[in-house]
Amino acid sequence: MLLKDDCEVILTENVDQGLEALTRQRPDLIVLDLVMPERGGLDLLAELAGNPEAPPVIVLTGTQTLSTAVEAMKQGAADYITKPFEVEALRIKIRQLLEHRRLSREVEELRARVETQERLVDLIGSSEPMQEIYRTIRRVAESKATVLIQGESGTGKELAARAIHQLSKRSGEPFIAVNCAGIQDSLIESELFGHERGAFTDAKQRRIGRFESASGGTLFLDEIGELSLGAQARLLRALQERQIDRVGGSQPIEIDVRVLAATNRDLEHEISEGRFRSDLYYRIHVVPIELPPLRERHGDIGLLARHFLAKARQEADRGPERLSRAALAALERFPWPGNVRELQNAIEHAVTLSDGSVLEPEDLPRHVVEAGRVEQLRDAVREGDLDFDQAVADFERTLLDEALERASWNQTRAARQLGISRRALKLKMDRHGLAASD
Ligand SMILES: Nc1ncnc2c1ncn2[C@@H]1O[C@H](COP(=O)(O)OP(=O)(O)OP(=O)(O)O)[C@@H](O)[C@H]1O
Ligand SMILES: [Mg+2]
Repeated sequence: MLLKDDCEVILTENVDQGLEALTRQRPDLIVLDLVMPERGGLDLLAELAGNPEAPPVIVLTGTQTLSTAVEAMKQGAADYITKPFEVEALRIKIRQLLEHRRLSREVEELRARVETQERLVDLIGSSEPMQEIYRTIRRVAESKATVLIQGESGTGKELAARAIHQLSKRSGEPFIAVNCAGIQDSLIESELFGHERGAFTDAKQRRIGRFESASGGTLFLDEIGELSLGAQARLLRALQERQIDRVGGSQPIEIDVRVLAATNRDLEHEISEGRFRSDLYYRIHVVPIELPPLRERHGDIGLLARHFLAKARQEADRGPERLSRAALAALERFPWPGNVRELQNAIEHAVTLSDGSVLEPEDLPRHVVEAGRVEQLRDAVREGDLDFDQAVADFERTLLDEALERASWNQTRAARQLGISRRALKLKMDRHGLAASD
């Protein structure tokens, strides 16, 4: 009541609701009571521990429990206030903490703006969205927080996971990647948690699961959206209790593993369809990282292309030394549905084909160059570099050429594709000097 004029106030009644509100609404500050039914306020603090994104917490406590307040401060609370309290005292504390948070964010933003980084571990890119990714990775690497990495295929989710591990205190310990999409559901439990000898018909030997192999290090659960609901339940238990049971084992085993997960599915949608457990989602969504598609960071295309060119050249021990302007322009026009992986493939393809010292558009996969053809012509006309008739003729030639290529230069088929007669096609081919030998 006393804050609702200054802030938007979200009320929750227990720790679990609080955690849910935290991921859903991302509040700037938490006022936390310590004594609550079921789990207490200290439990919530423990959940936030190590999460660099967590908002500051002011703990409310009765005078008799001052020692708990001290304990709360040790666990990361920013401040406390004892009941009964002066309304104004709480207001001041809140104002101070919010101001402090605002300033430290501003400092961080300004610092980041002056230093543009071209890479972080193996991730490459100097665009603003990538700078934001680097900042989050650096901050989160220090903590033990579970990270959910989302993004389209080929955006570098696995590289991001490896970077987090590399930059963490666990970098000397194992990084174990599990592709959840590649494991049969009946085997997933034994794969993750291991089994004892004789646990089931095929269990001839005891087997150590991936959680145990990653002990002290990082476990990367790739394609987590592919796990069955049953496997999700078992995983949730392991994350909550920080212990696992080998299949057929009688003793739970304590584990110290940092978990990273990745998916290219929209998990909120999967939840609404009943295919993903919301409690597991909230558990792994503590720090989300969303890798931007390549088409949203055009500025990185040149940097990445030059990197892949140098790499491919080194591996092949031959190939062009640089990209022509026209080749770069073509790469920058293309929307890259397969993201960085597709760009890398395109460059590798070009390096094998090219025999000059400069990589030209002709060396690139045809669909990449053709995709932006119309835009290119339109721009040239608009800027007065190309006259109208020439642009139209060019466009016509591109259409013919494409159709003929797709029809393996069978003129009847190409004409049918274009919806013109074979005779009309032949006339146009002659006019443009197009022949199969091209
Ligand atoms: N920012 C980047 N800098 C350099 N290389 C990158 C970058 N992003 C992706 N790559 C390269 O692209 C390829 C795909 O990356 P990665 O496997 O990490 O993608 P992913 O997001 O896990 O894709 P998928 O969803 O298909 O598994 C790899 O060869 C990787 O080296
Ligand atoms: Mg991947």
